[in-house]
Amino acid sequence: MEKFVVHGPCRLHGTVNISGAKNAAVAILPATLLVNGKCHLENVPDISDIRAYLEILKSLGSKITYISKNEMIIDNTNIGSAIASYDLTSKFRASYYLLGSLLGRFDNVQISLPGGCNLGARPIDQHIKVLEKLGAEVKVMHGNVYAKRANKLKGVPIFLDVVSVGATINAILACTLADGITIIENVAKEPHVVDVANFLNSMGAKIKGAGTDVLKITGVESLKQNSSYMVIPDQIEAGTFMVAAVVTRGDVIINNCIPKHMEPITAKLIEAGATVVEDGSTIHVSMDKRPLPITVKTMPYPGFPTDMQPQMCILQVLASGSSMIVENIWESRFQYTDELSKMGANISAHGNTAVINGIDKLYGSPVTSHDLRAGAAMIIAGLVAEGYTDVYSIEHILRGYENIADKFNNLGANIQYIKEGN
Ligand code: EPZ
Repeated sequence: MEKFVVHGPCRLHGTVNISGAKNAAVAILPATLLVNGKCHLENVPDISDIRAYLEILKSLGSKITYISKNEMIIDNTNIGSAIASYDLTSKFRASYYLLGSLLGRFDNVQISLPGGCNLGARPIDQHIKVLEKLGAEVKVMHGNVYAKRANKLKGVPIFLDVVSVGATINAILACTLADGITIIENVAKEPHVVDVANFLNSMGAKIKGAGTDVLKITGVESLKQNSSYMVIPDQIEAGTFMVAAVVTRGDVIINNCIPKHMEPITAKLIEAGATVVEDGSTIHVSMDKRPLPITVKTMPYPGFPTDMQPQMCILQVLASGSSMIVENIWESRFQYTDELSKMGANISAHGNTAVINGIDKLYGSPVTSHDLRAGAAMIIAGLVAEGYTDVYSIEHILRGYENIADKFNNLGANIQYIKEGN
């Protein structure tokens, strides 16, 4: 069993470099399948979700040549199959992008129903709706999703019922090589959605409107090979370090981030009393007092990201008064609050709302990472707690954060990685 032992309390200071965005990279890797040739990718995060995705690509016939752990050439000339292994695709959510990308090149596609973090119901009805509107036949049976098309997919007007990152990206992937023009309304505007569109446009796709509510995609015959693309920095990793800097009353420079993407998080930190100064691709975050209470309501971008909700909760736990969280994206994202209660936090969560009565200290305790971002929150809680915090189920954290313990330790934390016997 693996765990992190976080020795607290500490004050973070120094500089941290942010890695490439997980949620952009897990979409760009399947997007490479639309190219009958090679793509060169840089700033790909070295995390377990990416390693798992590369295994899926290899199982389909991709050849991966590493230039470094974050840079690679993916050659998709010899993709022989669009039947992805159940074992490989059932482990994580982003395997659903294989539906849109493989349908661009193949008539029959099969993946497992996507897995991923347990955040409550995670339907894929909007993904299926998009593919069916474009002319595919989609069936969900025996834990698998089967998609087939008799002819090339054909562009039509589409209106998404909910603002969905995954369905928007799947639509972009499916429409890139389709016949004609697709107009999609009510789409997601997250930075990773824009990054996927930029990647495909850099190879000759015709995707307009990424970052707005309406996308216009004009299908092209094929994409150019031998392109080179650098994945954007991870908004959520940067936000995680920003919150950690504030709650430890630290002084941290966040390097290699895009301050514009951080605005919903920056605004809340300033409201809580932190000093946040942007300069080019860096953000300097410092704090010298107890945070003020704040209310957080999660929303699609440019609203406050749900993937920062558990980390921001640590700030609210330590605030000088009562705070509130309203979770508007996922139905079950408060499981981690029971773990924080073990450390002394005073949180009452019901339905999609949590009320947090601020306290001035947390105490180390064994805690579990219920999902990726909850795990990051457990580490942040451990950094401020008196004593040591054993963080279990860290495989969730390692799915999405590159070298997280080393990065915190370089800022003055004391986090040990321990692998216990069977
Ligand atoms: C993406 O998930 C992210 N994952 C999640 O990050 C993130 O929490 C989420 O977007 C919201 O920002 C990846 O990018 C790989 P959605 P996704 O489709 O695409 C409903 C992390 O920690 N919905 O935008 O699966 C859904 O139930 C992960 O990095 C439908 O009803 O999320 C939810 O309420 C966890 N039908 C809302 O839309 C559908 O077909 C938004 O979900 C699809 C979604």
